[in-house]
Amino acid sequence: MNHKPAPVSEPILDCLKNRWSPVVFDSRPVDLSVIKSIFEAARWAASCFNEQPWRFIVVERDSVDFGNAIDCLVEANQVWAKDAPLLVFTAVAKQLERNGNPNRCAEHDLGLAVGNLSIQATAHGLSVHQMGGINLSKVRLTYQIPDNFDPVTALAIGYAGDPTQAPPGLSERDASPRSRRPNEATVFGSEGWGQAASYWV
Ligand SMILES: Cc1cc2nc3c(=O)[nH]c(=O)nc-3n(C[C@H](O)[C@H](O)[C@H](O)COP(=O)(O)O)c2cc1C
Repeated sequence: MNHKPAPVSEPILDCLKNRWSPVVFDSRPVDLSVIKSIFEAARWAASCFNEQPWRFIVVERDSVDFGNAIDCLVEANQVWAKDAPLLVFTAVAKQLERNGNPNRCAEHDLGLAVGNLSIQATAHGLSVHQMGGINLSKVRLTYQIPDNFDPVTALAIGYAGDPTQAPPGLSERDASPRSRRPNEATVFGSEGWGQAASYWV
C-alpha cells in the first residue's frame, strides 16, 4: 500500500497526518465491519441544531449499478475512481427540519461528517478521495434525490494501490509531494484580515 504522510510543521494526530487522496486504488474489497465503522464515525459529527443534514448513497464496485455510478462522475474522475471498491454520493437537506428555514450550515456539517468518515477510514488503513467533479443532475436522477435535498460530492473509498503498477499520469499524481499554504497566510489575528496571527510572526 502506498503511504504519503503530510510533512507537518507541528505535531498532529497520526490519522490526520496519514490521510491523503490517492488516485491509484487496490482491488481489495472493504469489509462490512469497516464500512459500518466509517459511517458510524460520520454519524457522530457535530451539526447545526443536531440536524445531521447529510445523507450518503453507497455503491459497491461489485454491484451491477456500479457503471451508472461511474457515469455520474466527470471523465477526469472516472479514469481512476472506477478502481475503487466503494463509491459514495453525498447530499444535504436544504432546510432545517425544526422550522423549514434554509440550513445555511448544511454543507459545513456534511464536511464535518465526511471529515470524521475520512479519518476513521484512515485509522482502518483505507483512503477516501473526495470529488466535487460530479454531474449533479445525473446524480439526482440516478438516485432519485428529492427536491428538498441537494447532491454535493462523491467519495471514492478503498485501499491505496501500488503506483508503480498504474498507468502513466495516475502514478505521477500519487508520487507527487503534498503541499499546503503556511498558516501565516491562513490564520489571521485581531489586527484584521490578512494579518497573520502573532503565533507565527
Ligand atoms: C470537496 C472536495 C472536492 C474535491 N474534488 C476533487 C475532484 O473532483 N477530483 C479530484 O481528483 N480530487 C478532488 N479533491 C481532492 C483534492 O484535490 C485533494 O484533497 C487536495 O489536492 C489535497 O490532497 P490530499 O487530500 O491528498 O491532502 C477534492 C477534495 C475535496 C475536499
